[in-house]
Amino acid sequence: MLEPVTKFRTNKITLDDLKITGQRVLVRVDFNVPLDDEGRVREFTRIKTALPTIHNILDYDGKAILMSHFGRPDGKHVPRFSLKPVAVELQRLLGKDVKFAQDCIGPEIEAMTRSLKPGEVLLLENVRFHPGEAIDDPAYAAELAKMGDVFVNDAFGAAHRKQASVHAIASCFPGSAAAGRLMMRELRTLGRTLNDPIKPFIGIVGGVKISSKIKTVERVLPRVKKMLIGGGMAYTFIKARGGNIGDSTFEPDKLSIAEKILSGPGAEKIILPIDSIAAKDLAYGSERKTFPSGQIPDGWRGLDLGRKARSQYRKEIKKVKTVFWNGPMGYFEREPYASGTRAVARAMVDLAINGGVSVVGGGDSMAALYKFEFAAPMTHISTGGGSLLEFIEGKPLPGFRALSDRVNDISNGKHTGVKKS
Ligand code: 3PG
Repeated sequence: MLEPVTKFRTNKITLDDLKITGQRVLVRVDFNVPLDDEGRVREFTRIKTALPTIHNILDYDGKAILMSHFGRPDGKHVPRFSLKPVAVELQRLLGKDVKFAQDCIGPEIEAMTRSLKPGEVLLLENVRFHPGEAIDDPAYAAELAKMGDVFVNDAFGAAHRKQASVHAIASCFPGSAAAGRLMMRELRTLGRTLNDPIKPFIGIVGGVKISSKIKTVERVLPRVKKMLIGGGMAYTFIKARGGNIGDSTFEPDKLSIAEKILSGPGAEKIILPIDSIAAKDLAYGSERKTFPSGQIPDGWRGLDLGRKARSQYRKEIKKVKTVFWNGPMGYFEREPYASGTRAVARAMVDLAINGGVSVVGGGDSMAALYKFEFAAPMTHISTGGGSLLEFIEGKPLPGFRALSDRVNDISNGKHTGVKKS
């Protein structure tokens, strides 16, 4: 029997198990969103996907106190990593006032949380402005824990981090550290897709580096009927097969792993792009040509799927019921090399609107979907980057594992809080 991709513990308590009415509900969200040059939020998915949990808390007259990391400020207060711009967008998306705290710990901030009325929202400043966060410091976690009566972790994107606001904090809320709506949706959807998909099921893996996707390929390959490879990582595979990839980017130190995968079990399921759009340089207006992917001349660099590869990948998607896609098929940020990624995205939209399951993960694939305006019809777009890969690799997610266990909680009776009628 196939080993499960991950041990998905369904015995964790969830938001539904908490008493919320009148409580200060401290929610760890992942508001690590991209900003534009003017410091405004450029991409809203991670804010929008936190809304179901926030709405639920407000609907039951709870007080929502949100905390998140933002960037990597290394334990110092770095103004450009302030969550203030996120508070502005959250207020807009929520359609109600969002208060903002200048810090995430301390007596003044705790007083702010205690003065909240039911139905109010407070966003705390970046938890990574303090050095205790990165080292999972229990003392720092205890300071953070003063901001809530119960705790909800809804930050799937940060669940792989063993950090104070994600991990150590859970033990400060024995019996009342629960998984939020997004966390559960991610784990259930991804778990089901990878462990018990509606078949036929194929995987599509792309992106620049094979090194960050090897585990994904190895874990997903036994579960799928076919695996389509694209993006820069395809050239490491093509070179390992003895093809000429010209000046295409590849990882010399990963050739032997690529060879191993291509001669290992399930290798016959792997489909590499038959042709590639290549250019001599990335400058706009530079000449582009299509070559068979294993016959790219020196001086040329493969940057996207060619027409034949696009057509083949579309056909493969059309034949199945479930597709899991992680990583772009080419240099989609530049329009001349976006066709492969767009073709896959469009085919997945068709699959989803025809009753199939289209699951997409990874920051770049997500960015591509929004760029092409193909996001809405997808069955699920994961907010996880590193956490998604670790989930697929079967690694435990510390942020989920640390949450209160239902069985233990029944023994101390703390999970049985009943929401207002
Ligand atoms: C992400 O963007 O993948 C998550 O927010 C985690 O961020 P980190 O890699 O800085 O921990």
